[in-house]
Amino acid sequence: MSLFIKKPLEQLLAQAGDSDKGLKRTLSATNLVALGIGAIIGAGLFVRTAAAASEAAGPAVVVSFIVAAIGCAFAGLCYAEFASMIPIAGSAYTYAYATMGELVAWVIGWALVLEYALGAATVSIAWSEYLNKLLNGAIPYAFSHSPLEVAADGTHGIINLPALIILAILTAVLIKGTQESASLNAIIVFIKVAIVLLFIAIGWGFINPANYEPFTIPEGTPGHEGFREFGWGGVLGGASIVFFAFIGFDAVSTAAQEAKNPKRDMPIGILGSLVVCTILYILFSHVLTGIANWTEFKTAGKEASVAYAIETYMHGYGWLATAITVAILAGFSSVILVMLLGQSRVFFSMANDGLLPKVFSDLHPKFRTPYKSNIILFFFVGAFAAFIPGSMAGDLTSIGTLFAFVVVCIGVWVLRVKSPNLNRPFKTPLVPLVPILGILVCSALIIYVDGRTQVVAAVWMLLGFIVYFGYSKKNSVLRKK
Ligand code: ALA
Repeated sequence: MSLFIKKPLEQLLAQAGDSDKGLKRTLSATNLVALGIGAIIGAGLFVRTAAAASEAAGPAVVVSFIVAAIGCAFAGLCYAEFASMIPIAGSAYTYAYATMGELVAWVIGWALVLEYALGAATVSIAWSEYLNKLLNGAIPYAFSHSPLEVAADGTHGIINLPALIILAILTAVLIKGTQESASLNAIIVFIKVAIVLLFIAIGWGFINPANYEPFTIPEGTPGHEGFREFGWGGVLGGASIVFFAFIGFDAVSTAAQEAKNPKRDMPIGILGSLVVCTILYILFSHVLTGIANWTEFKTAGKEASVAYAIETYMHGYGWLATAITVAILAGFSSVILVMLLGQSRVFFSMANDGLLPKVFSDLHPKFRTPYKSNIILFFFVGAFAAFIPGSMAGDLTSIGTLFAFVVVCIGVWVLRVKSPNLNRPFKTPLVPLVPILGILVCSALIIYVDGRTQVVAAVWMLLGFIVYFGYSKKNSVLRKK
């Protein structure tokens, strides 16, 4: 049977109808935008901005944000069409199964592990950084860093314990099924946005225009030899790094079954949260690279960079550094939770389809959550969080997500050609132009992810093919039918 066997759309929609039983349609457009912002603003802004500035873009990181936002906007428009049309869990994996067949769906599901599992690891590593900042560096370097990291004084990392601990706590929360209620999420979103606005408003007065000169990293700067590490190539390199900051708007699509009026509100939720975050990110990165020089983010300001910039340059605002750090810790927790949840939902769908072992869809007898999957994921995500540096995990997350975005853009286009008459509550404008631009921008960003990450991602995908042909293809429920 063909590798491109497709899940009939009717069957998918019937499944959506089934699970409708348990889910109440309670989310308004505003709730969906809040959900998006809750999942989006996190380590990308508070950690990766400084990393992108110091590794690739310099003060032009603000342009990197604009480039990444453009790629996300094209992909977001495509996500919105699918989300309003196939409003069920599983997101890009499910869309691909219906439009491009099983093998592509598998590839996407496998790539989404990079997005969600590695994303959770990245944010937990960032959580550990800011916790240590809050505790004035009380956690020894060796126990809060991966073995691949070395401090300026030569101390080697051994294991990142705080990252492991926050993952364990949030895994327990997920297993118990304490739904992150809309109101709790709203409070965290309010705190996050307030702190970002406060930083922008107060920090603006501390901008030193000299920090914007030169605007991009000059050619010949030591340590910036690669094509993605200086000049405008560096701006694109920076875009592939800060792209991480936008990940999460696709998580809105997983709430489609809980939206009051999905046809109208899903696009508003997805695109609205993107617009709000883009504006905040541009202002925030402009202020951050104006307060401290980008070169400092290589050294003293490498970790917990926002707190560093405030403490070093904004005298009298120590309270702001503390408030930001506390808000960041709360904000990161909600991002990690959404990522872990997203990962277990994708595995749940894949296991239901027979592409992964049933253990990933077994529900807890009392809590009705995929607890075995959550526990296995804890060990998997935990291994990355404990033993690899945040920048490596972050780049892997970006590449996996970019890949998923490309496939979603292709999928929208394919389905328009193959089934032009399907009911599409929200239509991506200007097809095929918008999908093509989405494919181009996201592919360009994949090229600008650093070489080592590309190799690791390729090995991961290769492993995926081995699992597919060794296990999934034989066990596919759709094939057995
Ligand atoms: N966008 C999320 C973050 O920046 C993943 O933490």
